[in-house]
Amino acid sequence: MRRPGFIAATLLGALVLAGCGAQGVASPTPKTVVGTVASGPTLPVVPAFHLKGDATKGNSVFGSAGCGSCHTLAAAHSTGTVGPNLDSLKPDYRAVTAQVTNGGAPSGGTMPAFKSTLSTQQIADVAAYVVKSTGGQAP
Ligand code: HEC
Repeated sequence: MRRPGFIAATLLGALVLAGCGAQGVASPTPKTVVGTVASGPTLPVVPAFHLKGDATKGNSVFGSAGCGSCHTLAAAHSTGTVGPNLDSLKPDYRAVTAQVTNGGAPSGGTMPAFKSTLSTQQIADVAAYVVKSTGGQAP
């Protein structure tokens, strides 16, 4: 029972070597990274961005505004899947204040705008909460 195994390993080795030889110089394959690149820099600066958010208050805003019904956020024990997972996205302060103020991108986004239902301070608070609870630095 040893021999077939040995032969198989030898064949495999030969195939791998042949593969390398045939391929020539390997070029790096681009990898698609999902959800780690926040679109912060491209999102506009909104009034809430200039305020200092209170993450503790933001915790309750996150609950009352219903963010958790669409977003997963471990700190809030929410598991929504309509929008991106905030733990993986790790959005920055600018991104969250902009997104919450204006809602989804004009290109067919489905997230509602909260500028008429939340105060500027509440938007700052919920943004500070999201940023801090995903390991980022909130002002
Ligand atoms: C009705 C579902 C829904 C609700 C409620 C909702 N979101 Fe979203 N959210 C989405 C969807 C869908 C996207 C991505 C597509 C888009 O832009 O609409 C998104 C995107 C985001 C983004 C990503 C912004 C970026 O960097 O591109 C953040 C941050 C965010 N939401 C935070 C929140 C917060 C905080 C709340 C609560 C105040 C909230 N969302 C409420 C559906 C929702």
